[in-house]
Amino acid sequence: MCARQKTVLIGVTGCIAAYKSCEIVRAFQKRGVRAKVVMTEHATEFVGPTTFRALTREPVAVGLFDEPGSPIHHISLAQEADLMLIAPCTANVIAKLAQGICDDLLTTTALATKAPLVIAPAMNVNMYEHAATQRNMQILRERGCHFIEPDEGFLACGDTGKGRLADIGEIVDACLEILEVEQDMAGLNVLVTAGPTQEPIDTVRCITNHSSGKMGYAIAEAAAARGAQVHLISGPVSIPEPQGVQVHRVTTAQQMLEASQELVDGCDIVVCTAAVCDFRPAAPASRKLKKGDGTSELEHIELVQNPDILATLASCEGRRAIVGFAAETDDVVEYAKGKLASKRADLIVANDVSEGKVFGSERNEVWLVTAEGEEHVPEMDKVHLADVVLDKTLSLYDLKMA
Ligand code: PMT
Repeated sequence: MCARQKTVLIGVTGCIAAYKSCEIVRAFQKRGVRAKVVMTEHATEFVGPTTFRALTREPVAVGLFDEPGSPIHHISLAQEADLMLIAPCTANVIAKLAQGICDDLLTTTALATKAPLVIAPAMNVNMYEHAATQRNMQILRERGCHFIEPDEGFLACGDTGKGRLADIGEIVDACLEILEVEQDMAGLNVLVTAGPTQEPIDTVRCITNHSSGKMGYAIAEAAAARGAQVHLISGPVSIPEPQGVQVHRVTTAQQMLEASQELVDGCDIVVCTAAVCDFRPAAPASRKLKKGDGTSELEHIELVQNPDILATLASCEGRRAIVGFAAETDDVVEYAKGKLASKRADLIVANDVSEGKVFGSERNEVWLVTAEGEEHVPEMDKVHLADVVLDKTLSLYDLKMA
């Protein structure tokens, strides 16, 4: 859902190191980058497309005529990529790329893309040192292609020398540097609550609200893209899970509280965007209540107040920045100031939800309310707003930790 999230297209070629591409996919996802995979036929001899499909939750293309949803597949893949990484890359594929030969989906896509091309070779030492391979690499370098040199060591073929696929961290860092994803939240642990809660009345009915989860998911995804380790505690929503984020699904406020309490220790930043139901039925029925059976149980549902998750987390031991949202229909900033104090938050992001605004929408206009005053943030899409909220949160975090 995040428009700013970068996409890396990972090309996997037929090499014993192909299994390491699975770890490369995971490493990108952990850094908040979307990973898609394209494979050569030979690569499928080493790892199956199903593995990559499961890891990326995206279709994995192999043949030029596979047609997974696109009439001109190599062009759509080429356009989608912010960066194309071929890792591991064989001498054969390097040679083809140097000569502009495109006889399969991977090489065709590499020729069609305008995204930066990064190649991490892996092969036998003699093949790597061969004049033909070195010349082909030189041709590609001159065209602006980035190479991540292989490591030296014991090779799968039994030889020793240069040819082992470079360290995965080194490959991913080099790509991120090229992508220029700002990693200003690297090393921070972030906890986000999102979506509505559902409080059961009986086995088929519940009390809930219209939160779609979009605001909270955008914040979680943006924090992950900026390098944070993110736990997202989500109420029931139907939007796709953000990449690079650990999602914990809950239903009720009580479950959201328990999941938050388990994760808050070691957390640097807490952002509560969830629209938690303030009340729940005191005694949910374990059957479907009848409306006309004279019992009137549905007419008089006794409610009890739910725990305040934000206030509870703010009172937990440890130093961290605490951010809440305030959904108001009038006196938006004034009520937000009250919540800032009563919930002991560092920042309240106040939004005007009157006339059906904000809930479920792609856009939002907010006021950032702190002890120092309030700042108005004009309406924008939630994806970009997420970064504005995180910028403010980071500055408060730095002040608090100074
Ligand atoms: O999900 P979307 O469709 O994108 O909509 C976004 C949103 C409207 C849900 C979001 O922008 C928002 O305003 N979230 C907070 C909704 C809310 O419950 O506001 P509140 O003013 O009632 O609560 C204030 C704060 O206390 C919130 O951070 C809330 O998460 C927290 N809270 C409230 C009650 C409770 N029992 N526990 C809490 O932690």
